[in-house]
Amino acid sequence: MSRHQEAREMEKKYVYGTWRYENTWNPVMIESGEGCYVTDMDGKRYFDFSSQLMCSNLGHSNQAVKDAIKEQADKLCYAAPGFGTEVAAKLGKMLAEITPEPLCKSYLTTGGAEANEAALQIARMYTRRGKFISRYRSYHGSSSGAIALTGDPRTHNAVGVAGVVRAPDCYCYRCPFGKEYPGCGIQCAEYIDEIIKMERPSTVAGVVIEPIVGSNGILVPPDEYVPRLREICDENDVLLIDDEVMAGFGRTGKLFCIEHWGVVPDIMSMAKGISGAYMPLGATITTKKIADYFDEPENLFSHGQTYAMHPMVCAAGVAAIKEYDKHKIVENAAKMGKVLGKRLEELKESHNSVGDVRGKGLFWGVEIVKNKKTKKPFAERKDKFEGSILNKVCGEMMKKGVYLGNVINTFIVAPPLIVNAKEINDAVDVFDEALKIADKETE
Ligand SMILES: Cc1ncc(COP(=O)(O)O)c(C=O)c1O
Repeated sequence: MSRHQEAREMEKKYVYGTWRYENTWNPVMIESGEGCYVTDMDGKRYFDFSSQLMCSNLGHSNQAVKDAIKEQADKLCYAAPGFGTEVAAKLGKMLAEITPEPLCKSYLTTGGAEANEAALQIARMYTRRGKFISRYRSYHGSSSGAIALTGDPRTHNAVGVAGVVRAPDCYCYRCPFGKEYPGCGIQCAEYIDEIIKMERPSTVAGVVIEPIVGSNGILVPPDEYVPRLREICDENDVLLIDDEVMAGFGRTGKLFCIEHWGVVPDIMSMAKGISGAYMPLGATITTKKIADYFDEPENLFSHGQTYAMHPMVCAAGVAAIKEYDKHKIVENAAKMGKVLGKRLEELKESHNSVGDVRGKGLFWGVEIVKNKKTKKPFAERKDKFEGSILNKVCGEMMKKGVYLGNVINTFIVAPPLIVNAKEINDAVDVFDEALKIADKETE
């Protein structure tokens, strides 16, 4: 048995995988990374076309972030959250500076689910209401509040899902209202107004959205959608909570995705790209109005975790945010996004199976169908955890040294934001070839 096989068997025996039938897990064991590539235990290199889990925005070997982690480890590895540390203070100040005003004060945590838990808890405390509106095609994390918000099949095995009302999605390719943009009157937004009114606005704490839906298929809303949702929230006096965990930190060609539409949420959650995934960091930033509420002597901030404001993860965050700025990472994402978008659009023309291509920046979805005319899908939502034709396409790409993620019927094309045009073109060439496997299955 090779070292690679031995390690794999050990992992399968002693460590749970995530969101899968455990007996089908056969992980490729990776042990090093450089730039946009990771290398497995046999020394085989893979281009990372999905930034691992749409999070390795700075690539895999950023020296400044690694150095910052090492320096922090030499100084102080942990502080109880009752203490303060300069590194947490610095990170909070940086987040206030880089997010749109009046976002100004952050809760610092260790991942996206925890950032959303904090968002929910802050919204509950501030509004003194318990109900939230989210959407069916959404993922907000696996902890109990975040999985309750989540509308995708990962929520179906969760227990105790309460206090959440789900709205139809802004999914133009398969409009839940059977309409077509631009003559649709943005029904997907208007219907959220209807839901709030039916639920009674005074019981609704907030509307939670991913500004571009990520792991449910890269759903880009029409330009009117997010601004209209902001109006609807204001008209009904409910909070708009923006989950930027996947779409934030440059992924879409703006530092925060919601900036594409000039909208400022009341609460924004972030994780993944905030540290370039070098450390498990998340953050929940709120407006001054919300921060002021908690400055009142009678208003307890009733939330906390042992690892809140953890200095090691904060150090990675501070260094990563400096790197985004220093190397103009977001600008590169916008520029390379044009190269990637153009190549992917071409696949729609040349493949029978490619039904829709959508995205912004370096955040693209390629949805495949059995029949382009009828849009007959290869798989249904219930098939999320089953093997699919997409897995076969991705398996073929792995053989050729390109890692690409997928969900149900959509490939998620989201390379590190440091990628260059040659790397994009080479990887799309491999994708182009592998898609023939799906073409053969079309009707
Ligand atoms: C939009 C969004 N929110 C929240 C989460 C949960 O983040 P984490 O896995 O760090 O808990 C994810 C994870 O993919 C996500 O995509």
